[in-house]
Amino acid sequence: MLKDKHITVYVTGGIAAYKTLNIVRKLIKQQALVQVVMTESAQKFITPLTFATLSQRPVITDNFTPQTENDDFIPHIKVALWTDLAIVVPATANIIGKMANGLADDIASTSLLATKAPKLVFPAMNTDMYDNPAVQHNLTVLKQMNVQIVEPATGFLAEGMTGKGRLPELDTIMTNIEAQFNEKKLAGKKVIVTAGGTKEAIDPVRFIGNRSSGKMGFAMAEVARDLGAEVTLITTVTASLPGINVIQVQTAEEMMKQLQDVFPTADVLIMAAAVADFKPVNVADQKIKKNDDEDIFTIKLTKNPDILQNVAATKTKQFVVGFAAETQNLLENAEKKLNKKNADVILANNVAQADAGFNVDTNKVTLLQKNHEPVSWPLMSKIDVAQKFWEFYINKVEK
Ligand code: C5P
Repeated sequence: MLKDKHITVYVTGGIAAYKTLNIVRKLIKQQALVQVVMTESAQKFITPLTFATLSQRPVITDNFTPQTENDDFIPHIKVALWTDLAIVVPATANIIGKMANGLADDIASTSLLATKAPKLVFPAMNTDMYDNPAVQHNLTVLKQMNVQIVEPATGFLAEGMTGKGRLPELDTIMTNIEAQFNEKKLAGKKVIVTAGGTKEAIDPVRFIGNRSSGKMGFAMAEVARDLGAEVTLITTVTASLPGINVIQVQTAEEMMKQLQDVFPTADVLIMAAAVADFKPVNVADQKIKKNDDEDIFTIKLTKNPDILQNVAATKTKQFVVGFAAETQNLLENAEKKLNKKNADVILANNVAQADAGFNVDTNKVTLLQKNHEPVSWPLMSKIDVAQKFWEFYINKVEK
């Protein structure tokens, strides 16, 4: 897939720079043509010679030294025009800030500003730096400019603490890179994805919710977009995903209403949202006060509509996918849902497992369809689960 693709790898000065060596090796193994550009601080971590050896070509480290005898001294324009895909890995807060603000004071920022190629950025830094509103603001600006940002993973960081800021695993990085060159196998398809947990109001300040992060749905939506689909994401979690039509909702009823509007013309529905089964019968107009005489406070709940079941009952051509998040009897319960909800596929996962389900970056999924044996996929990142699902869909339905 990457054969003969011109990939420019911008290495900036973070400790994760050593991991970029493996990325370059993988790219070369897949026969991509790789040009490495390094900032000055990146060269404090790794020598250009190491990258040059692995990438099989000289590394660009400044704008003023010709690489070869007959070079014309403008490497930033040359590399900008040569590039099919620009990857910034690891991306420091500094390069993110420069890219978001159009600064060009070294070879990396200058070339990135000059290139029209798609850009894929992998931020990796200390958790507090990453969370800093200035960095978050710059990332939002980049997303609005259609730069793709791959969120860092959570885990052990170089400074000895655990937090968000790690470079994602190599496989996840490669999946994201390959996705840029995906054939547009879903071109012309309309895909709807729902994501996140619904919030059912108790009073103006409180709600009944759940631990769903929306990550699985986001991954489904992003991979579908990369495959050329026209994607609508109906979500309770705020999201800014380039190239995706995002509709923000809170409650199950709002979600159902929005879905009913777009479902008739859709080709695929992925119901990844964790919809509350119950909502309070009455929503108090004012904040509910503690009562000194009562130790027990009761909220009466009523059933929410089952969105999937209702919507799937009206399906014509649509391919409908539900999720089954269970803590026990996974397959048995998932099988029941497949039939009851009129879904084509149920993706089942055990949310009691620490590395699968709610609020983590990985998932372990079993795919169920009528008249087929269930197929269990190994533990993988949610992006890889999404990639695998869409591969399955393309092979099953589109062929
Ligand atoms: O029955 P259960 O909630 O476990 O079913 C899970 C599947 O059904 C998910 O795809 C979820 O998005 C969907 N669902 C729904 N409406 C509900 C509850 C769940 O569409 N009220």
